[in-house]
Amino acid sequence: MSPRLGVNIDHVATLRQARGGREPEPVAAALLAQSAGAHGITVHLRADRRHIQERDVRILKEVVALPLNVECAATPDAAALVVALQPAWATLVPETREEVTTQGGLDAVFLQGHLRSVIRELRSADVQVSLFLDPIPDQVRMAAKLEADAVEINTGIYADLPQGADPLAELNRIREVSRLAARLGLRVLAGHGLNLRNVGPVAAVPELGELNIGHSIVGRAVLVGFERAVREMLEAMAGGVP
Ligand code: PXP
Repeated sequence: MSPRLGVNIDHVATLRQARGGREPEPVAAALLAQSAGAHGITVHLRADRRHIQERDVRILKEVVALPLNVECAATPDAAALVVALQPAWATLVPETREEVTTQGGLDAVFLQGHLRSVIRELRSADVQVSLFLDPIPDQVRMAAKLEADAVEINTGIYADLPQGADPLAELNRIREVSRLAARLGLRVLAGHGLNLRNVGPVAAVPELGELNIGHSIVGRAVLVGFERAVREMLEAMAGGVP
């Protein structure tokens, strides 16, 4: 069975923010993703609010039936805001103002003391917590120790391999860490940089319950429409030829 698809709609909001107006409306994209068969909606509420705004999260929560996953920095302020917004899931990610997109996973080993209190605050407010981690066994072990509900394995290194490079070593890291996470009782997700061409081998990892995919779906949607872009990704995840 192929994993569920969480559609990240940040870059619909990027396009809207480019002109500071109302269009395109990310909530409309989420509804189209829902009708095309997506299983979840993800947004990253960045501290600099460069794309998704609090208002988007509030409306998404109200009108979209799919589980909502809000990515945010692992800070007390971000956690307090997420608690107020009450999505089903929060994914804690590293965040710096200079980066174009999330760069690498959280260092859960280094940040353990700090993460423990943020995770506790979110979970005690009925928000399930996922940690975005590089495919490193010690990071996953720490996520289990900190009582996260899930880990999202960073596929960025796999996705960014130069053309012609053998992806096997990186895929094996993702496979082994996914197996470990499942054995530790964590839900296992993956994402970053996945597209129609590279998603197949990741979607075939049996422990991966869900993939979070954004940029490539939004990019394709500009050309073929949002519902078709989501359907094509679901087909590629199921092993179909894109
Ligand atoms: N997962 C996490 C934790 C992310 O930060 C992002 C990017 O916002 C994604 C998945 C989606 O990555 P992409 O846009 O490259 O598909």
